[in-house]
Amino acid sequence: MTFSSKIITFAIAASVFALSVSGQAEEHKRPAIDASKLPPASTKPGVTYAGDIKAIFEKSCVKCHNAEKPKAKLNLTTLAGALKGGEDGKVIEPGNSAKSMLVASVAHVGDEDDWMPPKGNKANIGPLTAEQVGLIRAWIDQGAK
Ligand code: HEC
Repeated sequence: MTFSSKIITFAIAASVFALSVSGQAEEHKRPAIDASKLPPASTKPGVTYAGDIKAIFEKSCVKCHNAEKPKAKLNLTTLAGALKGGEDGKVIEPGNSAKSMLVASVAHVGDEDDWMPPKGNKANIGPLTAEQVGLIRAWIDQGAK
């Protein structure tokens, strides 16, 4: 092998390795959501952030997801913050609650490390009820207004 072909071989091997590592990271962050395990969406019409969701987030989430020092850079104190998402990008897909990462987290579907609020958190904030998750689903399915 000539010197330059060795360099090329090394460069290809290095980029294949980098790609496989980033691919795995992506897979961990975004596991496919098993929608059959989610509580059903509420049938309530006209669900909005201001009317229904803000109060749920205020009670169970904003201790950690606030404007000052948001965990995972996710600020749930405003509609714009919720739609913007966190350090891994969007956590809500307006119109599709079954594909929304935030729903999987609060419904305890998927990786235990991603459950929200985190298991055994020091603030002792318990999980959301199936009704609350259903309301969040309805809000997102209705366009996350
Ligand atoms: C006690 C603190 C705490 C509470 C309460 C809490 N979270 Fe979190 N949340 C975290 C931490 C810490 C992370 C980052 C986890 C990680 O990176 O492993 C996180 C990450 C997230 C993420 C992923 C964001 C991203 O881009 O990676 C979502 C979505 C989320 N939380 C939603 C919620 C919701 C909704 C609630 C309320 C029902 C909630 N959290 C309550 C601490 C909390």
